[in-house]
Amino acid sequence: TWTPDAFVDLTVAELKQKIGDDKVVLGLSGGVDSTVAAVLLHKAIGKNLYCIFVNNGLLRKNEFQDVLDQYEHMGLNVKGVDASARFLDALAGESDPEKKRKIIGKVFIDVFDDEAHLVKDVKWLAQGTIYPDVIESVSATGGPSATIKSHHNVGGLPDYMKLKVVEPLRMLFKDEVRRVGKSMAIGDERLGRHPFPGPGLAIRILGDITPEKVSILQEVDHIFIQGLRDWGLYDKVWQAGAMLLPVNSVGVMGDERTYEKCVALRAVESTDGMTADWVNLPYEFLQKTSNDIINKVPGVNRVVYDISSKPPATIEWE
Ligand code: XMP
Repeated sequence: TWTPDAFVDLTVAELKQKIGDDKVVLGLSGGVDSTVAAVLLHKAIGKNLYCIFVNNGLLRKNEFQDVLDQYEHMGLNVKGVDASARFLDALAGESDPEKKRKIIGKVFIDVFDDEAHLVKDVKWLAQGTIYPDVIESVSATGGPSATIKSHHNVGGLPDYMKLKVVEPLRMLFKDEVRRVGKSMAIGDERLGRHPFPGPGLAIRILGDITPEKVSILQEVDHIFIQGLRDWGLYDKVWQAGAMLLPVNSVGVMGDERTYEKCVALRAVESTDGMTADWVNLPYEFLQKTSNDIINKVPGVNRVVYDISSKPPATIEWE
């Protein structure tokens, strides 16, 4: 029978054998998969694993620094690269969801490639690809659902990098990845984290992206997610986030009329993200969260809660 401990022992031995004294680069995202892959490789080859954690400027509030600190704490050889300006410049003026994804995917590859070239004589690229990613990228070459959304985690390797690919989680499902992570003493802070899309807040800001919109959404998201934690709801929800809508509506403040932004909150239950149901969050929680957002985030005067299930309504609004 499969056990996480046996998987770790076997995989570490195989990785040592396969990689020897070569250097490996790996892109960390803050998510479960890349973190578990990194810790496995670190066990096998130590400092020869060069981790690169890119800030695309579309992460949650404080996420870049917090997660970077955690990675350093775990003893990983990690470099944080703040490429926010490069991403936001490339995205300026673009409103089309798929084009936004493509731009982010391309800039990520450019940034990652620049960094990988700084690692002298690197031979391998490690990825946190898991079994469902493998299946999805296979179906993405032909299946009818292929172009609904382009996930950029798989197959994004530019030829000219000429690196061999190592994917230690390729045969695992998500729950197995979590169990492996737990057996290597990775904390709940990482393992219990809600899924967060590679393109980040870019696909939760409907329409074009500006630094100002990003910071509004970061504040809103922070209040919502911190609230879920404070109310003991975070672990009861599979994924949650806020969307910044391209809609202004009228509000009153004292004698004045305002014409400001509307945000939508979304929280879903799911097992694999393929289908999802909206979560019946307590009214008191929604009431408090809405008040906090409107009182604390300038530029937002209206909060709505998304009560749509998938299908047809995807988890992300773009
Ligand atoms: P949807 O919005 O398609 O999302 O219902 C299903 C799951 O996939 C995540 N997602 C993405 N992840 N790149 C990613 O890495 C993407 O472009 C992307 N689009 C959606 C989403 O957050 C949810 O967990």
